[in-house]
Amino acid sequence: MRVVSGIKPTGNLHLGNYLGAVKQWVSMQDEIQQQGGETLYFIADLHGLTEWIAPAELAANTIEMTATLIAAGIDPERSVLFNQTRVPQHSELAWLLNNVARVGWLNRMTQFKDKAGKNREGASVGLYDYPVLMAADVLLYNGTHVPVGEDQKQHLELARDIAAKFNLDYGTELFTQPEPMVSKAAPRIMSLRDASSKMSKSNPSVQARVNLIDDDATIAAKFRKATSDADALPQDVAGLADRPEAKNLVTIYAALADVTPEQVIADHAGQGFGAFKPALADLAVATLGPIRDRMVRLLDDRAEVSRLLDRGAEKARDLAAPNLLAAQRAMGLQI
Ligand code: TYM
Repeated sequence: MRVVSGIKPTGNLHLGNYLGAVKQWVSMQDEIQQQGGETLYFIADLHGLTEWIAPAELAANTIEMTATLIAAGIDPERSVLFNQTRVPQHSELAWLLNNVARVGWLNRMTQFKDKAGKNREGASVGLYDYPVLMAADVLLYNGTHVPVGEDQKQHLELARDIAAKFNLDYGTELFTQPEPMVSKAAPRIMSLRDASSKMSKSNPSVQARVNLIDDDATIAAKFRKATSDADALPQDVAGLADRPEAKNLVTIYAALADVTPEQVIADHAGQGFGAFKPALADLAVATLGPIRDRMVRLLDDRAEVSRLLDRGAEKARDLAAPNLLAAQRAMGLQI
């Protein structure tokens, strides 16, 4: 078993990333390694380029994201932790896979449609090709399991199609079909302002997301001001069905406390949001505060964080090189 996943350094790590993906990364680090498998996690700085970002911001975010992952529990001694750019095989395999992926497949990607919006002609080619680089990220290591939020599932289905077509076209068994592992507890955390849109790094309202870098008072204030309804919490989870804001807050509570939504409802049924939101704020501060404090300490020495990425990249290159070579040879490229 080999677990592979990545995160873009286009902003700070937020609660959606943490509950939807990174918490799973940490628990898989223990589980998979006990079974003799490996975990590889990376900062997708090349994906960060697909929408404009100031160079200094991208550079700083890459270091900050790395520190946040370590603070959240990713151990660079036990997991291979690196950034894409320092492992050039990602870009090289992406080019090979560009010749396997079909335009029709990419045209169906909902993330491209959402991000490009009405101005498709003005979107970067990188934004369109984004899922092919993502397939390369995983196939390069023959990743078997990919822990992600629900929004990335379609991209991983494409990676499976690319792997199958490559194997078929070139008469090989080279690529393994990766399995997306969508978090059951928090597949899709929604904005704290508007429960019809997901919590994201790109939402212009800072109130919509809780960042792991936020101080305690900010975290608490964001939960106290979160949009909710006027009713009390229902007697069972079925009562949350038509109440998206309430459902989102209960989901967040459950995921933070590592309990089921049923358990949260059993403990808080009948409570109004005037009481539930402060309880959620306390829980979030107690859970996220120590991660932030560790991150801030790690960022005292940014050069050391960069050295950790270098060491991780060295290990990743050793794993990637033979697979890239095998793909090149299968295609008839002379190396
Ligand atoms: P990114 O940086 O947008 O998000 C990182 C991870 O967080 C998950 N996520 C969420 N989960 C639940 N609720 C939310 N509101 C929420 N927002 C984000 C994402 O699903 C993701 O798992 N394309 C990827 C990065 C990537 C990658 C890869 C992932 C590049 N190459 C290869 C897996 C394998 C992305 O944009 O993540």
